[in-house]
Amino acid sequence: MGSMNSPNAQARVFFALWPNRQQRAALAVWQARLHELCGGRVMRPDTLHTTLVFLGEVSQQRLEALQLAAQEVAFEPFELRFDMARYWGHNHIAFASPSSVPPQLQRLVDELEQRLTSHGFRFERRPYKPHVTLLRNAQWSDAELPTMPAVRWPVSDFVLVQSLSDEQGARYEVLARFAASALE
Ligand code: 2AM
Repeated sequence: MGSMNSPNAQARVFFALWPNRQQRAALAVWQARLHELCGGRVMRPDTLHTTLVFLGEVSQQRLEALQLAAQEVAFEPFELRFDMARYWGHNHIAFASPSSVPPQLQRLVDELEQRLTSHGFRFERRPYKPHVTLLRNAQWSDAELPTMPAVRWPVSDFVLVQSLSDEQGARYEVLARFAASALE
């Protein structure tokens, strides 16, 4: 693609936790149940993820520096447990959420944000709320959603993802993986 080499070419990127096949299948069960209740658009199972830091548009020429920054992140493996289905009225998404955020996950996000900042990357800092978007354009009330079978998600790496749009909607490409290591 010629545009890839243009000095002004941008890539829409974010860092995320990427589920394995088992976790995707388990979340697809939630999607089917939630869709019956909330309607909306079911996210394709191969696009399911948990965002860590959303960068948005980054110059293609900075993608290598971005990976170097992420390589500096040291974090311990941990386990996330998605055990609550929830709905946000402000953006009409139904999502999977952990009822408690492991401290290692918060530290991973803090550390990643710090490394990115020190390498000159700019992004919006928000209180971190880990979630997996399951449905978009959904409708629900303030009532609680039914209990779903918990999804255990052991985390030993995170990924850099590029969001590419085509006629079918958003398509994600994993550009790089970054492994956890035992901390001293
Ligand atoms: P969402 O699923 O809650 O919409 C790719 O778009 C990923 O980045 C999605 O997980 C999306 O979250 C998240 N994302 C999109 N725009 C964002 C923003 N401005 N701030 C934080 N996360 C964002």
